[in-house]
Amino acid sequence: MLAIRLTANPDRLDTLVLPVRTGATTDGGTAPAMLAPTGVALPDEVSAEATTLLPATRLAGRAGETFAHLRPGGTPQRLLLLGVGDGAGRSWRTAGAALARAARDETHITVALPADVDSDAVRALVEGLQLAAYRFRMTDADESPALAGVELLVADPEAQREAVTVAETTARMTRFARDLTNAPSSVKNPQWFAAQVEAAADLPDLHLRVRGPEELAAEGFGGILAVGGGSASGPRLVELDWRPAGARTHVVLVGKGITFDTGGISIKPVPAMKLMRKDMAGAAAVVAATLGAAALRLRVRVTTLAPLAENMVSGSAFRPGDIVRHYGGLTSETTNSDAEGRLVLADAMAYAARDLAPDLLVDLATLTGANAVALGKRHGALYSDNDQLAADLLAAIEDAGEAAWRMPLPADYVEHLSSDLADLHSSPDAGAGSVTAALFLREFTGDLRDRWLHIDMSAPSWSDGDDAELTRGATGWGVRGLLRWLATLR
Ligand code: BES
Ligand code: MN
Ligand code: ZN
Repeated sequence: MLAIRLTANPDRLDTLVLPVRTGATTDGGTAPAMLAPTGVALPDEVSAEATTLLPATRLAGRAGETFAHLRPGGTPQRLLLLGVGDGAGRSWRTAGAALARAARDETHITVALPADVDSDAVRALVEGLQLAAYRFRMTDADESPALAGVELLVADPEAQREAVTVAETTARMTRFARDLTNAPSSVKNPQWFAAQVEAAADLPDLHLRVRGPEELAAEGFGGILAVGGGSASGPRLVELDWRPAGARTHVVLVGKGITFDTGGISIKPVPAMKLMRKDMAGAAAVVAATLGAAALRLRVRVTTLAPLAENMVSGSAFRPGDIVRHYGGLTSETTNSDAEGRLVLADAMAYAARDLAPDLLVDLATLTGANAVALGKRHGALYSDNDQLAADLLAAIEDAGEAAWRMPLPADYVEHLSSDLADLHSSPDAGAGSVTAALFLREFTGDLRDRWLHIDMSAPSWSDGDDAELTRGATGWGVRGLLRWLATLR
């Protein structure tokens, strides 16, 4: 993480970052950039120079534009003009990310924030900086980044303290989710994942229970055992409980934790398998959000369930045609061992509904390739029969700078879930892959049917390249939106 410090009196002035905004034209277009008036006194000659310089830069002030200007021998030695667009949260996040990249080879930068900067902007700027500065590498070489310190220059540091703390925690937990998801599956088996959670969960009022194969068998978690049965690394169920005094609402989060998905006996072709180490991104997101809730001491109870299994091809793997008995007794017929995610989620959701009986149940899963077919690379597919819950989550996700789109749970597909052999068919061949997966999961919500929300996040869990606050690889999708949403609950 970058060391970010709020101050009214900078220690040093090597590189000074000055925000520039777009001016609006009457026809709704963008006029040339305007220097945002800073909240602190800058040396007169610096302000004058930046003002003179600005028209020649041809900046429009769009979020993320940068222009570097050298001042050899001067203080500061370098001015960096940074487009912050319209000054909305999303623009500041993009600007922060562009700044982290533009200043990659600096050691220390000072950002003069505008006099009227609000805490949402500060929060977004810090998130953008910390998330774009993220990089996953496995190497013994010393590759520590040059940029170590960022000073945020504001008139009243105390007024922005909370925003920075929330942003730092959100970014730290998003980076944690990215680390878990980027980790290769040679390292990341279910036991390892559970150990990472244990190492991170040493916080007051946070309780952890990890069930291994014996306990799962004794309690009847047949879906998790079936999917995990083909692997040399046995399955786990992580139960992480943030239980603050005085919380009135209890949320259960469930995340799909397939540490590698070969497809099982219904094996995936080469191109479809190469990224399947990310098939635990849902589990990573819900765990990280819960750790974030505990670190920020949010006043809502959150129990997170992460069913962890490796879907392998072996003599002990489950087969197409098998019938699974889920936690709580519902049975499902499987005809495709690659539809494994819903089987482990079904157990965890049935356990949540029956034994934990929360107020709300939310699950995140890299569930189907159909998510990207329907919605493209960046949007999660969100399902719920509860309009209020759907609206609340969509708003939190949007505010956090993530994206999701609400999808239907159409009655005319429910018939495809019926089976001659079992209570349910887990992998119907009805098309609409993301929809039928969601409908299957709904069967395990019990009394929580109308207080349940599901997000298929296969697509936004990964980015093919650097893009604003996203870096190539795991995105940590869901952590930011969930934390925003949890913070609104009591
Ligand atoms: N883990 C995959 C879904 C996935 C695909 C995630 C691409 C991320 C990127 C899931 O387990 C799966 O294989 N789903 C099948 C379901 C089908 C067999 C009913 C799919 O989407 O094809
Ligand atoms: Mn699969
Ligand atoms: Zn999968």
